[in-house]
Amino acid sequence: MQIMSAPALDWTQHLTKNSQGLKRSAVREILKVAVRPEVISFAGGLPAPECFPSELIASASARLLDKDHCRSSLQYGESEGLAELREHLGTSVSRPMEEVLITSGAQQGLDLLGRVLLAPGDVIAVENPTYLGALGAWRPQGVRFAPVPIDGDGLVVEALEKLLETERPKFFYTMPNFHNPAGAVLSLERREQLISLAEKHALLILEDDPYGDLRYDGEAMPSLLSLATARGLADRVVHLRSFSKVVAPGFRVGWLTAPPVLHDALVKVKQSADFHPNMLGQRIMLEVIRDDSFPAHLDHLREVYGARRDAMDDAVSRHFPGGTTWTTPQGGMFLMAQLPAGIDAASSLPTALEAKVAYVTIDNFTVDGSGQDAVRLNFSNASPERIEEGIARLGDLFRSLA
Ligand SMILES: Cc1ncc(COP(=O)(O)O)c(C=O)c1O
Repeated sequence: MQIMSAPALDWTQHLTKNSQGLKRSAVREILKVAVRPEVISFAGGLPAPECFPSELIASASARLLDKDHCRSSLQYGESEGLAELREHLGTSVSRPMEEVLITSGAQQGLDLLGRVLLAPGDVIAVENPTYLGALGAWRPQGVRFAPVPIDGDGLVVEALEKLLETERPKFFYTMPNFHNPAGAVLSLERREQLISLAEKHALLILEDDPYGDLRYDGEAMPSLLSLATARGLADRVVHLRSFSKVVAPGFRVGWLTAPPVLHDALVKVKQSADFHPNMLGQRIMLEVIRDDSFPAHLDHLREVYGARRDAMDDAVSRHFPGGTTWTTPQGGMFLMAQLPAGIDAASSLPTALEAKVAYVTIDNFTVDGSGQDAVRLNFSNASPERIEEGIARLGDLFRSLA
């Protein structure tokens, strides 16, 4: 008997207009190629896997999965996240645990915030360039991004002030520590100015800080949340953090603080998104960060990544074409290099991949498509030797285009 097959469904017709317009993250697509072992990748924001605190994680997992503990480690949990973890994190930023929400990575925090705060036509003020994952989370909501320039000291606050004369953004999204992709740190003076703007304009600030613990030199800066709290303005700041860069991203454990009404709305959307964060992941995270050896783990990360930052800084200065400019980052995972005029790094990416080296261009991070002639280079995920080799290959390529 012959089986007749029905015509295939035209699935695009079933997708909403919004879903049809969605684009895959260019960076995540590059990462698929870049993970091949023969490719030296500066493309992702990947921590060094050899630095994962695997022994701590293994012993915590063994304890949490024994027969006495596994009931609570593997059971459904509270939507807000594990109470003990929230209390610990709230204390670390001097906020009550009621304001802490554990998220599935900081990325989920960005997505949930978009869901409860944004409607089509809303304006969001963002640094330009900004974290492309935030643009990706909010673009589908039909919002308009108002770009604000940054320089070596982070956000140009006067430019935001000027923007606020004509626009009423729903919020301003910023990365004050080791900006992704620019690597810049917002100066203390500008932090204070930004809080003053938030006060004057009743502006909500989203402070995204996954890299703050990864400082290799210079003085630590107070968070925007702490500065705002000191001035009785804590309700102006949502503070987003993550364990992805300092423990391991595979756990997908991040967190945020939000004022009570916003916190409640976020919990409600989280309930429909995934009920609650990963229970075992949260419990392991709590054990890891409370362990006596955790500060030594952070010191080790800073030592390893600081050496990699130095290796990249040095290699870029020797191999990239004259006229390239960059600011040596004091921490984080990225160095952004502006190539001399006329070098189109975006269209050169396939040639770079043939030479087995990967990067991402800054146009992926801008709201106006600028930045094809600038690159973001990740230094945390390659040894100093691989950094030297990869930057030499890239230097050959860019010099041939200069
Ligand atoms: C600035 C910024 N925010 C948020 C995230 C998302 O991190 P997570 O792995 O916690 O979702 C990243 C990841 O690279 C990032 O760079």
